[in-house]
Amino acid sequence: MTRPPQPCYAGFMKKISLTGIKPTGLLHIGNYFGAIKPALELAKEYDARYFIADYHALNLIKDPKTLARYTREVAAGWLAAGLNPDELVFYRQSSVPETFELTTMLMAFTSKGLMNRAHAYKAAVQANLEKGEDPDAGINMGLYTYPVLMAADILLFDPDVVPVGRDQVQHVEMAQDIAQVINFNYKQDCLKVPQAVVQESVAVVPGLDGRKMSKSYGNAIPLFAPEQDLHKLIKRIVTNSQALEEPKDPDSSQIFQLYKLFASEEELLALAARFRNGGMGWGEAKEELFRVMNRELTPLRERFNAFIADPVRLDAILAQGAEKARLIARKTIARLRKATGIDR
Ligand code: ADP
Ligand code: TRP
Repeated sequence: MTRPPQPCYAGFMKKISLTGIKPTGLLHIGNYFGAIKPALELAKEYDARYFIADYHALNLIKDPKTLARYTREVAAGWLAAGLNPDELVFYRQSSVPETFELTTMLMAFTSKGLMNRAHAYKAAVQANLEKGEDPDAGINMGLYTYPVLMAADILLFDPDVVPVGRDQVQHVEMAQDIAQVINFNYKQDCLKVPQAVVQESVAVVPGLDGRKMSKSYGNAIPLFAPEQDLHKLIKRIVTNSQALEEPKDPDSSQIFQLYKLFASEEELLALAARFRNGGMGWGEAKEELFRVMNRELTPLRERFNAFIADPVRLDAILAQGAEKARLIARKTIARLRKATGIDR
């Protein structure tokens, strides 16, 4: 009896989850509810590999102090949110040089046409055309080849699932394509083909102006804003001109949408009733939102500040994670060097 060919990657008992966050700005409430919290939830069931995608950020952030600061803040942010570095592999992308060796290998199997179809690149070209500029103005090769680096981040660690926001699904599909081309070429499962998971239950968190909260729209509430700043930002939430006594629709108010993320069931019902009954002005609703937000964010902010104040501890955690990550990464590279014929 012939046995089916075994994949080259090891079979792990637990399934593996991997994701990364780019340190391109301050973490905001949308990142917390849309990415960090669901990923930490998954880590209870999966072997998790979570990292800070600092080389991805370099495409955008050219000031060294800013890049270093954002990187530390994203690391401290994950830890403050409850990531336990003893239970999962937590590292900086730049600490795993095998990523860049794999990127070179993947380049040889990635068609230029695939990169031409990437949303982020297409959006940048479109923006240039609309401004009447050269289509490639300001576009660096890092942005153009971004999906290959991201595929290397993923394929290096054999994940089964990659939790991401909807905008990143195309990138994960590109990683699948590239892995399949390689497996087909070498007639063996050299690389595990991962699945993107989008947490459908996680609603898009609205920003101050009601659009999706995003650092690029200037409408974000930073996750670790000091209490006074948080209060000021909440007061800036855009509302309509309904008078105090008028009944208000909770579902169309971003105050209420944000409240949902922080309030208990009881508090939620109570505020919805007060909205519908009329008699509560927007100012008061904002104060109530501030109260529940600050209640949940205060312990997070304190843990965050403690990590930021202790860079030696933060670096030690990341160094320990890098060691663990490299052990895994070296194995993937060894099997690919063999499969490709680079190593005999
Ligand atoms: P930004 O839009 O601020 O640049 P990123 O694109 O860096 O945010 O997002 C990092 C992660 O946070 C992604 O997984 C993304 O889906 C998630 N995320 C960002 N903004 C929101 C939001 N408003 N609601 C839900 N998830 C979000
Ligand atoms: N591109 C992702 C983003 O912008 C970040 C990222 C980089 C990532 N490498 C990854 C996400 C690998 C998941 C897996 O949000």
